[in-house]
Amino acid sequence: MKILQINASARREGANSTKLANTVVERLQAAHPGAALTLRDLAASPVSILDEAALGALFTPAGQRSAAQAALVAEYDALIAEVMAHDVLVLGVPMYNFGVPVQLKAWVDAIARAGVTFRYTESGPEGLIQGKTVYIALARGGLYRDQPHDSQVPYLKTVLGFLGLTDLRFIYAEGLNMGPEAAAKGFAQAEADLAAALA
Ligand SMILES: Cc1cc2nc3c(=O)[nH]c(=O)nc-3n(C[C@H](O)[C@H](O)[C@H](O)COP(=O)(O)O)c2cc1C
Repeated sequence: MKILQINASARREGANSTKLANTVVERLQAAHPGAALTLRDLAASPVSILDEAALGALFTPAGQRSAAQAALVAEYDALIAEVMAHDVLVLGVPMYNFGVPVQLKAWVDAIARAGVTFRYTESGPEGLIQGKTVYIALARGGLYRDQPHDSQVPYLKTVLGFLGLTDLRFIYAEGLNMGPEAAAKGFAQAEADLAAALA
């Protein structure tokens, strides 16, 4: 088993989502001795955002790209190859302003590529990142599970599903900024979600 852990918290120290993602990885490695781990920290190594220059690079034919354009496409290509080379993804995802951190959005924008990670067919779109399990460790200050104003989980289900990542296992640590009692409850719920996700 090859595990790719992607930490999306802007915090490089003390992040709840990272701690939870670490726990997921520890449990996976306990269940699958010898499982290899690759760590991608999006705060330490931010992905280039999909701005005008990046779009220009992607839409320029390979042979005609400037050095800067080639470097941008190579960066995105490497992120795609990294995902393809692993069996299991573990995402550590804090909630920021009801959504995912910009660092994670940049990663999603980098790996979503027509003809490479998805394609359009006569019967509709087809995701090309197939056969992987994705554990998503969520950390939230408040309580949003299954609420209409949780724009994070529906977004992840939509975009990752579009790319073919349909085996998504969400682990919720919620209420972390609502006092010690609520936080303890949130971590206990995460533990229960994790047990169910690994069962
Ligand atoms: C900039 C910012 C925005 C946040 N927005 C929300 C939010 O919309 N909803 C929520 O429940 N918690 C929100 N929080 C609280 C975080 O989700 C919570 O502190 C979580 O533990 C952060 O993840 P981390 O510990 O992995 O960095 C926010 C925190 C920060 C720093």
